[in-house]
Amino acid sequence: MSGTRPIAQLPQHIGAQVRVAGWVTHVRSSGKVRFLALRDGSGDLQVVARAPDAPDSLLAQMASLTQETSVVVAGLVRGDPRSPGGVELAATEVTVVGSSDGYPIAPKEHGVDFLMDHRHLWVRSSRQTAALRLRARIVHALRAFLDDHGFVLTDPPILTPAAAEGTSTLFGVDYFGEPAFLSQSGQLYMEATAMALGRVYSFGPTFRAEKSKTRRHLTEFWMVEPEMAFCEFEENLAWQERLVAYVVADVLAHRRAELVALGRDTTALERVEVPFPRIAYDEAVERLAAAGFAVAWGDDFGSPEETALAGMFDRPVFVHRFPARQKAFYMQPDPARPEVALAADLLAPEGYGEIVGGSQRIHDVELLTARLVEHGLDPDAYSWYLDLRRYGSVPHSGFGLGLERLVAWIGGLEHVRETIPFPRTLNRVWP
Ligand code: 4AD
Ligand code: MG
Repeated sequence: MSGTRPIAQLPQHIGAQVRVAGWVTHVRSSGKVRFLALRDGSGDLQVVARAPDAPDSLLAQMASLTQETSVVVAGLVRGDPRSPGGVELAATEVTVVGSSDGYPIAPKEHGVDFLMDHRHLWVRSSRQTAALRLRARIVHALRAFLDDHGFVLTDPPILTPAAAEGTSTLFGVDYFGEPAFLSQSGQLYMEATAMALGRVYSFGPTFRAEKSKTRRHLTEFWMVEPEMAFCEFEENLAWQERLVAYVVADVLAHRRAELVALGRDTTALERVEVPFPRIAYDEAVERLAAAGFAVAWGDDFGSPEETALAGMFDRPVFVHRFPARQKAFYMQPDPARPEVALAADLLAPEGYGEIVGGSQRIHDVELLTARLVEHGLDPDAYSWYLDLRRYGSVPHSGFGLGLERLVAWIGGLEHVRETIPFPRTLNRVWP
């Protein structure tokens, strides 16, 4: 509101008369004193009114305010080392903007389903605002790194004619009578724009009709997908670790208060420095077998296996050169060992699982066509994608970083549903 000050700026206005607009989180009365906790999105503020300085009418009005009432408070900013931000506001006048009766989320324990049904209100709580602020900073850091390193943002379509990541998780759409699908990944389009601009990335929502009900799976999630022309496998890994290490350092520098609010042990994040360890899939199988897992070469790792592997390292670890037959159609086989793909997953520590998946792409048109057929896909549906291999094809690589999993790991959040304002999961498309 015009003429009001954000709470975060009040330390610069000690001694001044100001107006602050926000929501009441709670009111506390003790004798002739009223304390009002106010939140405006920029910060938290303690508002006080004390007799005899404050008139009885103001004390009575403040005592009657209910949780989430929106107000404008006029008052004097005073230094107070015990208060959030080091200031408090001595109120002279409170104006109610919008009343709030029977706010459903009381400061007590609620079940997850109740909170998810009230997600539109739950986002106001201090833990959720810390998580959303963390997410926003992580997005900023991801984009800043890529923008500063010559990657051009190119936005892929959301409505797509064919699968990018397997046909079992497609959301279908009726596109004026033609079948279309919500994008599972912008990658194939990034390969096209990389041939135009060299280094590119996309950042946007992607969709998977995942039947998995885990703490890491959403049906709608955001992915950052860099793609680099003339880039081979090792260089791709180097970009991934630099990006992740940069984001972690940025968050430690700029969102420490939010990490603390979330109860994150930051010492684990402080160890995140390049280079990250790299282990071949073969070695991963050996390590898992030695740890008592019943895995054989060729098996896909589930989340217990990923957690065990990640637990063997103190920072994110790359697992590379997976059996080609368990991976996507577009992945370049290792020339030295064609049964493995030049692909890597980056596993986060502490059980957060795969945060990045990347690979070198097949750049030979014949091999790519054969792979499409092997995967039961119709090469005609990918004719434009095959064109990229017909006209000046080059070795190229890229990766997809799952934003919600990255936020969950960095924030130490138990479940990805707290990393996105309105999560979409197997059982939920509300509110
Ligand atoms: O490993 P994925 O499936 O890779 C791709 O989609 C490639 N086309 C990316 C590329 O090379 N451009 O997904 C990439 C990342 C995963 O590592 C994970 O972090 C995240 O996306 N992800 C999910 N996050 C939340 N919910 C889901 N259902 C996810 N599926 C993948
Ligand atoms: Mg993957």
